[in-house]
Amino acid sequence: KRIALFASGSGSNAEKIAEYFANNTDVEISLIVSNNPKAGVIDRARRLHIPVLLFDRTTFYDTNRITELLVSQHIDLIVLAGFMWLMPTGLVQTFPNKIINIHPALLPKFGGKGMYGHFVHEAVVAAGETESGITIHYVNERYDEGQIIFQANCPVLPTDTPEDVAHKVQLLEHLHYPRVVADVLAKQP
Ligand code: GRF
Repeated sequence: KRIALFASGSGSNAEKIAEYFANNTDVEISLIVSNNPKAGVIDRARRLHIPVLLFDRTTFYDTNRITELLVSQHIDLIVLAGFMWLMPTGLVQTFPNKIINIHPALLPKFGGKGMYGHFVHEAVVAAGETESGITIHYVNERYDEGQIIFQANCPVLPTDTPEDVAHKVQLLEHLHYPRVVADVLAKQP
């Protein structure tokens, strides 16, 4: 099975997933797609010997290049790990139920455009929530609305800052995402 990882940021989830499958001869992280030439994930990919392909917005949305690339690479699963752009319609249609994403909150709450990265944890704290967590879901053309695959939660204490929540959520991401990716692959026909 061949996985394409999409990441725009630090890439800690991408690295955890690559490490998880490092000794698995049946699963390969074939490439990492990014939209940010300064993303930390590029350095991690270099160390992990995984090719990186950078896209600008025009190429990503106004050409079929990304879909053609992933089809030609015989990709079985697209794993979004902190990728900040919506999926192009053509890609979602070509890879039905083969794109998954992780959101750092308990969807359907605290989801949608603009609710990413630190903003989510600030909103959770501001709302006085007593728990937060992660949601792993299938991806369609709209932000954070696909079928939910897995959720895990963590407590939010009254004394917690957004940084405290971000740290607890990231631990959940790193603990669960690689295994959920493996589970989704195992279920594929
Ligand atoms: C994580 O918070 C993830 O939930 C969200 O983007 C962030 C990615 O972090 N989708 P990293 O780049 O994997 O460290």
